[in-house]
Amino acid sequence: MVNTGGLALAAVAAGAAMLAWSRSARRVPQAGAAGPGLPWLAAGALGAAGGLLVLGWRQAQGVPGLLGSRLGHLVLAVVLVLLLAAAGAAWLHRRQASASAAERPAWRRLEAMLTGALALLALVFGTAIWRLPGEALAIAHWPFAWRYDPDLPVSPHTWRRLWAALAQTGAAAVLLAAALAAGRWRLACLAAAAALALAADWPRPQMLLTEANRSSYQRSALPFSDANLLDGGRLYQAHCAACHGAAADGRGERAAGLPVWPSVLGPALFENRLEGDLHWRVAEGGQVPAGRPAMPAFGQTLDPRQIWQVLDYLRLRAYAAGGGAGMPAVPAPVVALDCRDGRATRLSGLRGLPLRVVAYAPRAPEEPQDPRLLTVALTRGGAGWPDADCVAAGAQAWDAYALAAGVPPDELAGAQFLVDRRGWLRARRLPGAAPAWTSADNVCGPAGRMEDGSAGGLGELLLAMDRAPIALPDIRREQ
Ligand code: HEC
Repeated sequence: MVNTGGLALAAVAAGAAMLAWSRSARRVPQAGAAGPGLPWLAAGALGAAGGLLVLGWRQAQGVPGLLGSRLGHLVLAVVLVLLLAAAGAAWLHRRQASASAAERPAWRRLEAMLTGALALLALVFGTAIWRLPGEALAIAHWPFAWRYDPDLPVSPHTWRRLWAALAQTGAAAVLLAAALAAGRWRLACLAAAAALALAADWPRPQMLLTEANRSSYQRSALPFSDANLLDGGRLYQAHCAACHGAAADGRGERAAGLPVWPSVLGPALFENRLEGDLHWRVAEGGQVPAGRPAMPAFGQTLDPRQIWQVLDYLRLRAYAAGGGAGMPAVPAPVVALDCRDGRATRLSGLRGLPLRVVAYAPRAPEEPQDPRLLTVALTRGGAGWPDADCVAAGAQAWDAYALAAGVPPDELAGAQFLVDRRGWLRARRLPGAAPAWTSADNVCGPAGRMEDGSAGGLGELLLAMDRAPIALPDIRREQ
């Protein structure tokens, strides 16, 4: 996987190559030396632009990231500079060929200056990518009213119409290019291109795309911390439970009196909706059947941060309902820690190692330490487990993991959670389950599919976690 450093290096290398080229071009002013320089420069800049686009695409996770995140914007800026360099080089090459021998050195200087300026610009953007803060991958703003949704059912007929329209427009573009190059047939070519383009029968956007808004691709950048999650829970109970129900099952006491039944806010919601769309829905309110809004807009009552807190709380609740099945991955709640060797003070500081988070039960039989993972004991203020690598003694930490287990805090003792190297919750064992990890404790894989960790217990589970890492970018700020 490329990272921001790799991208910055690629951008700086492209700029530096152009700079070196422009210097060498200035140094060789002999007449007639148009040489192969310019075509090579154009090809190089084009290649670099393509390569950077691919790297940026992978790092920013596709079109939304490229168009909506700060990193994406910088990558697009470098690509634009490189494309300008390629176009400028191609144009200069054509002009140079027709210039007289006496004019050539002047052209050469102009060309060197232009490339130099563009190269410096590419270098500046490359350095900016280098110095980006972590949350630059957060998508600030989706610029279109529609977005592509891979889950939207699109009929084969619509696909055929789309391909036909694309082919027709492509043919029109070829004719247009031919018209620019051709002498005698220019008008005929132009007319044919216009006719083809106008006759293209595009399917309506609704058939292929879903409605989007400016925050569609935004994701929560709040730390997934016990404090935020519990605040979210309090806000939920105060503002939402009357309609959506204390258990988020859509059965609040006001539900029956509403024009539309309130939604169940469980795993399916997070599977089918983008986080950013949910945020938008809560801030802007719901449908308005017959002029009576079903759900009020909360944009005035709650600030954007509080809405994320509520959604993060609901996300952890949804995890509790099915152990993460059928929904996108959920991070492990980040709690304050006290580690024996002082290696971290928060759970997020333990990234890179698999963790076992255990709600300490004083009377339970001690489980042997396992060298393959670190043990974090939740002790709820009480004296801890002497063998644990780290202890989270806070009551908040305990309550947050009780939420993840879907049990009241008083019944959490004995529960265990497996957290992978990147901090995602991957498996859990509820209190009262078998005394060791078994084949039944499946690992939550990417996209919420359960990996079958058949037989073998803990070892198999750890292997399954590493075999199918969660590829979602984690853009949460950890304080
Ligand atoms: C007055 C009752 C009421 C209150 C209060 C309320 N909701 Fe809703 N909510 C509804 C109804 C009814 C719907 C379904 C219709 C719709 O989407 O407009 C809904 C839909 C939603 C949806 C969209 C679900 C989907 O399928 O896309 C989300 C998310 C949501 N509510 C979250 C919240 C949150 C979070 C709060 C508290 C901050 C809240 N609601 C408060 C009544 C309410």
